[in-house]
Amino acid sequence: MDSIKKRIDELIRIIKKANDEYYLEDNPSLTDQEYDRYMAELISLEERYPSLRREDSPTLHVGTKVQDKFNKAVHKISMLSLGNVFNEDEIRAFDERIKKVDNPHYVCELKIDGLGISLTYEKGVLIRGATRGDGVVGEDITANVRTIKSIPLILNKEIDIEVRGEIYLSKDSFAKINAEREMNGEPLFQNCRNAAAGSVRNLDANVTKKRKLDCLIYHLPNPLDYGLKTHYESLMFMKELGFTTNYKCNRLVKNIDEVLDYIKEWTEKRASLPYDIDGIVIKVNDIAMQNRLGFTAKVPKWATAYKFPAEEVVTKLIDIIFTVGRTGKITPNAVLEPVRVAGSTIRRATLHNEDNVVIKDIRPGDYVVIHKAGDVIPEVVRSLKERRTGDERPFQMISNCPICKTRIIRKEEEADYYCPNEECPARKIENIIHFASRDAMNIDSMGESVIEELYNEGYIRNITDIYDFDKYKDELINLDGYGKKKLDNLSKAIEDSKKVSLEKLLFGLGIRNVGSKTAKILARRFKSLDNIINTSIEELTSIPDIGEIIAKSIVDYFSDKSNLEIINRLKAFGVNMEYINTSNTEEKDEFKGKTFVLTGTLVGITRDKATELIENLGGKVSSSVSSKTSCVIVGDNPGSKYDKARALNIPIWQEEEFLDKVNN
Ligand code: IVH
Repeated sequence: MDSIKKRIDELIRIIKKANDEYYLEDNPSLTDQEYDRYMAELISLEERYPSLRREDSPTLHVGTKVQDKFNKAVHKISMLSLGNVFNEDEIRAFDERIKKVDNPHYVCELKIDGLGISLTYEKGVLIRGATRGDGVVGEDITANVRTIKSIPLILNKEIDIEVRGEIYLSKDSFAKINAEREMNGEPLFQNCRNAAAGSVRNLDANVTKKRKLDCLIYHLPNPLDYGLKTHYESLMFMKELGFTTNYKCNRLVKNIDEVLDYIKEWTEKRASLPYDIDGIVIKVNDIAMQNRLGFTAKVPKWATAYKFPAEEVVTKLIDIIFTVGRTGKITPNAVLEPVRVAGSTIRRATLHNEDNVVIKDIRPGDYVVIHKAGDVIPEVVRSLKERRTGDERPFQMISNCPICKTRIIRKEEEADYYCPNEECPARKIENIIHFASRDAMNIDSMGESVIEELYNEGYIRNITDIYDFDKYKDELINLDGYGKKKLDNLSKAIEDSKKVSLEKLLFGLGIRNVGSKTAKILARRFKSLDNIINTSIEELTSIPDIGEIIAKSIVDYFSDKSNLEIINRLKAFGVNMEYINTSNTEEKDEFKGKTFVLTGTLVGITRDKATELIENLGGKVSSSVSSKTSCVIVGDNPGSKYDKARALNIPIWQEEEFLDKVNN
């Protein structure tokens, strides 16, 4: 019990310090995700041990006490915050809770990343602008608020009203302010939110004026007083009064599936907005229903905020371990305190190589910044030196392979160490995993754990052993977890893999420097593996996109007798060695040698298929728009790539146009 009390005290100290930094100094040292994690831990401890809940617990209050420099502003109706949800399951759970009361319509809104504000008008004249503060008492920043153009000083009606919204800075203004601060040698703002908060809470209103702040209004605390029965009506009402609402983006929807559509749409379009958003707010539309649902101590039960997955988070680096890849490459990996990033929980991140760890001075025990983009493997970006306690341990590179204990080597011109032992089990297993993977032979039921097990049991020691499966199949039934159905599936997946096109086999062989893109180029050009085996460095380097290094890797690979033996064995098993042009298309002038970019949701075709078609017709697909892009193909709700293409005057084809050209 004592240790729990200690932890609660510690969490409260951390959260209070963070609150002060966030609300008073506009200079947070914790990220939002860290803050949320500490808060979640505190909430859960308090729920389990109610007797230990402290009266001053931050779970019972919003934000922090007001700084002295502004006058206090008491909120007649508390200014609440919002609960958070992070994924589809949690969104649906929110919906289920609401449905227990009634069937809701929702209003979806963008969650503007700025500073909450309350604006009070008497007889249509702005008399007070106040920050949220602790939700009950905020700061009176009327003078500063008056300098913001999008906040009306006089309304279209002589009405008494209080509205709430968000003060924010556009991405452009943020960049300008920071450029100026850099020139003056002043510390830079970390993001738009901090810059907005710092600007609007400046004691000199002239500074606020220069900062070009904006404001969007999204909440009327007492709509029934104005005869308004729904939130959507109150948004329209506020717009008519002269407030700037986000009317183009706000959407009234009928059910949670439409909420999810809205989220998907804005997750894609987010980058093209002129301001930062950090999520989507979901609100029950009907006010009577809102009132029936009510509030918790801190947040309304009728609304929640879906938070976009963060791409950068901070967590603790527990240890550094080393893994061995299929080429023998040794990679230092960070073992992390589990943390949520880009929608998933991660426990490992790559540290790339020894130099990277040494140059960045990353030590076990450090707090580190983790970056994750899309499907890319998460990486450790940097350590937070200012958070060191002295307990961190210096990084030590290993000298022997962690698996086979062979002394590892590092060639002079390379950054990586390698385990030189061709027989190293780690390398062998990784090789087989690569061969069976989706972009290679695509042996569906043969995942990492199956391969590891079959390797350790001695059944599959190299890629060719896979095709001897039927020989040992009957023995496998004795292994735990290998039922008849699983074995039949494996058998079928292995048979199917014999029919895949040459580029997949080529990629699967794991030739150094030959990724799936190069494999495709080679397969299309040479048509059969035999032609590739017999080619020369000169012929290879004459192909666009293939340079000396790739060419040498290919020729080296096929000059090695043991590799040729493997290929002969695969041939004998009936593995296809020819290029199969699935679309039966010839190259077309409109595509040949051109670079295409796809954006938006394609309706009549999948992205993979569209890419395959373009490549078969002689074109290339790239992920970003530049002056080298020949054409951008646009589906529904295109993102920033579309805007960029227009700005650069790059030809644009709608999806139908693209399909027409393909079919002609
Ligand atoms: S509604 C009772 N709507 O997000 C409802 N808040 O993390 C109160 N925010 O405190 C808030 N965009 O400062 C609402 N469209 C939006 C919003 C929004 C940004 C901010 C607001 C709130 C915080 C909660």
